[in-house]
Formats: sequence, C-alpha cells, structure tokens
Amino acid sequence: MSVNTEKLTVIALAAGKGTRMKSPLPKVLHPVAGRPMIEKVIQASKGAGAAEVRVIVGHGQNLVRQVVEPMGVACYVQDEQLGTAHAVKCAKPETIEGDVVIMNGDHPLIEASDIKEFLRIFRDEKCDLAVVTANVKNPGEFGRIVRNRGDLVAIVEAKDASADTLKIKEINTGIYVVKASILAKYLPLIKNNNSKKEFYITDLISLCIADKCKVQPIISTPKVAVGVNNQAELAKATRLLFKRKAMRLMEEGVLMIDPRSAYVEESVEIGAGTVVYPNVFIRGRSKIGSFTVIESNSFISDSEVGDSVQIRAGSYLESSRLHNKVSVGPYARLRPETEIFEEAHVGNFVEMKKVKFGKKSKAGHLTYLGDAEVGEEVNIGCGTITCNYAADRKKYKTKIGNRVFVGSDTQFVAPIEVGDDAIIGSGSTITKSVPAKALAVARGKQFIKENYAPKAVEVETETEEVKK
Ligand code: UD1
Ligand code: MG
Repeated sequence: MSVNTEKLTVIALAAGKGTRMKSPLPKVLHPVAGRPMIEKVIQASKGAGAAEVRVIVGHGQNLVRQVVEPMGVACYVQDEQLGTAHAVKCAKPETIEGDVVIMNGDHPLIEASDIKEFLRIFRDEKCDLAVVTANVKNPGEFGRIVRNRGDLVAIVEAKDASADTLKIKEINTGIYVVKASILAKYLPLIKNNNSKKEFYITDLISLCIADKCKVQPIISTPKVAVGVNNQAELAKATRLLFKRKAMRLMEEGVLMIDPRSAYVEESVEIGAGTVVYPNVFIRGRSKIGSFTVIESNSFISDSEVGDSVQIRAGSYLESSRLHNKVSVGPYARLRPETEIFEEAHVGNFVEMKKVKFGKKSKAGHLTYLGDAEVGEEVNIGCGTITCNYAADRKKYKTKIGNRVFVGSDTQFVAPIEVGDDAIIGSGSTITKSVPAKALAVARGKQFIKENYAPKAVEVETETEEVKK
C-alpha cells in the first residue's frame, strides 16, 4: 500500500468586497472572537499541513496583505472581482502540484482537523474533486446541492435556483478538495452565463461530472458552513467561537459561572481549577494559572497571571505579569510592563505603569505608580503618587527599597530613590532621595491659633431651652 505523500496547497479566497457587511473594512479582516477571520482560515490550513497557502486578494488588498503576509502566505491579486472561479484562476493553479483545498476566506469556524478529515476522505476515495456540503435548517443564500437518485449532479446558486431547488437543505459550504491537474484543466472552461454574470467555482462540479471524473460530496456539519456575509453573521460566528473556547476550557477543568458570557479568545491558556465569573474578557497571548479567580467585568490582555491569584471585579490588565498569590482590584488598572510579585496586593483605584512591585508589598487604595521599582514588604499609603512625567516631557524613575513605609498622600517627584526600611511621613512631597532607615517628612507644619475665628457662635443647648 502506498502512503500518500501528495503536497497540499490551500487557496483561500479573500478578494471580495463584502458589500453586505456595509463596512469600510475588507470583509475578511473583520474580527471574529478577537482575530481577523482570514487569520483563522490560514491557521487552520497550516495546522492541516498545507505546504503552501495562496491567498487571493483584491478589495482592500493593502490592508489584507498587512495581516496575512506576516503569517508566511503568498498573496495573488485579483484586480476585478469576476467571481469565485476567476479568483481561483488568479492563484495560478497550473503552477501547483498535488492536492488543492479551496476555501472561502469568510468561514472562520473551520479547524485544521476538519481540513485533515476532508483530505483523508478525498485521498481514501481516490477522488478527482470533492465538495464539502452540510444539511442546514435555513439554507438562505447558500448554493444548493442538487442530486439525482443520491448522486451529485450540480451546485446551483440561490440566485439562479428554481423554487423547487431552493427547498433543498443540503448546501455548498464553499470548501473543495481537488487535484491541481483537474483544476488547471477545467477552470478555463467555466463560463459566466448566470444571473450575476460571474465565473462560479461551483460550475467545476458539473463540468467534471460531465467528463466522468470522480466527483464526490463530503457531508460535514453545519458548523463548517457558518460563513460571514453580514454583521449579524459576524456576531453569530463570534458567539460560536467564544462558546467553543468556553466548552474546551471547561473540559480541561476551568470553572465557568456562566460560559455564555465568558469571552476568552482561542489563543488564551487557563489552568484547571481557575474560576471565571460572567462578563470577563481575556485576550491575546494571555496565560492564566490554576486556582485563580477572575471576577466580573475584568479585562485581561496579553498578560501572564500565576496560580491562586485574585483578580477582583472591574480590573483592567494589559501586558502585565502577576506572580502567584497576588491580589488585585476591585478596579485596578495595570498598564503595560507591570510586574507584581508573589503575595503582593494592589487594591481599588490603583493604576500602575512600568512598575516592578515586590513580594508582599501593598498599595491598597487610590494610588498611581509609574516607572517605579518597589521592593518587598513595602506599604504604599492611600493616595500615593509618583510624579514621573516632568516639565521637560521626559519620564523619570522612582526606586523604593525593601520594607519602606510610605504614609498616605505622598508624592515622589522623580527621579527619587528611597533606601530600605525608610519611613515617609504622610502628606510629604519628596523631592530628594531618602537614605535607608531614615524618616523623611516634607509638608507644611501645623500651627494652632486659639480663638482665631472672628466671633465664637453661641449655641444654646436644648436643656438650657427646657430650663427657661
Ligand atoms: C459562495 C458559493 C456558494 C456557497 C457559499 C458558501 C460561489 C459562486 N458560490 O457563495 O455556493 O454556498 O460561498 O459560503 O462560489 N471572492 C473573491 N473574488 C470574487 C468573488 C468572491 O475572492 O470575485 C471571495 C470572497 O472574498 C469570499 C469568497 O470568495 O471570501 C466567497 O464569496 P461570496 O461572495 O461570499 O460567495 P457566496 O455568495 O457566499
Ligand atoms: Mg460568502
């Protein structure tokens, strides 16, 4: 038995304008669960082992190229959008060898495992051409699969279909597996004699059947058929992707209080035993450990969070790192390059940017720390501010040693260094560095002037009134 070592090339169609989206953005760049939909299609292709991915670009190609080219795919231009067959032709199939998978760029739910399965069937059955179909409740604008006594005959576009054909529930998902040689041979024969005057790739089916090629439908799931042609379909695809991710996380032992309102992007990793409250958004390259709790309305982007961390309601984390047993929030804002070490606590209405915040240190309330290094077991009193941005429009650093006690309402006018074990009196405006173990107080002195008010107001007490 010979092992099939044919090369796989994917052609992804992404040149269309997406008129029905009514949006200035090219359709395939619309984000589905956080990522441009064409990215999902390319990832699935690569995951399925495609040696080459050729993306057909046209409308908004400069923007589309910016997204797809860094993924290592080649772009082929379709200047005028004359239909899906014309688009495939632009990929120069005559220069391809082996097997080809053709996919629409607007099917973001496709996964590598789906493509692998279609390819396996295509190869096992020694097909020349296979079309992936699905049975759906509402076939709407999908092309209909027309069969005669079970055998595939043709695909008819909804716009060109008779009332009887429109009743067919088996539809064309827009995914095809085909030998490159078949593609090169039959593509030039496709005509545009249809209602849209477009060259339809779907006509390949009837052409191949007429020539006695082996053409086979592969019946797949409605999931594969989820295409995006308008905003409502975009929202549906996004919801389905978030749901799929939530289900997978739960299978891996993540606790979801309400999986319908957990917005976790596909790229995110979460450890077992972590609890995700409703209305949490976790994006990008975020990685969350085990036994961590993430409360409602928190937004976490590109951040690394350790084990047993508490992220209380309404916290906002960007490109930050939280070590084990840290607690932040409610309402903490951690801006990029912030790192909070073990068992530290960042409380409500605290903002940090480019901060290293040492083990077991605390900033409980209403504080801004920027461009700062804070040692271990430091107490940052309520209302402390680093004045890191100077009149010369440059940023300066504040460095605070271990076990420093910072009284409430302190301002550090950077650059400042505070040595270990120093104490800063409340309400100080610190403009000079403070040595280790020193006490620094920098505030107006309190003075008392007795009977200073112009006239002491005499208030008769109730008892005096009763006496009268
Ligand atoms: C197409 C199929 C239909 C199928 C459906 C599945 C045809 C004629 N019809 O219809 O049978 O049920 O997909 O979703 O193929 N594109 C180009 N250049 C063009 C035209 C389109 O690159 O000239 C791209 C679009 O950007 C899009 C994809 O091809 O990514 C599909 O085009 P679209 O207009 O959405 O086709 P459908 O009407 O959905
Ligand atoms: Mg479409």
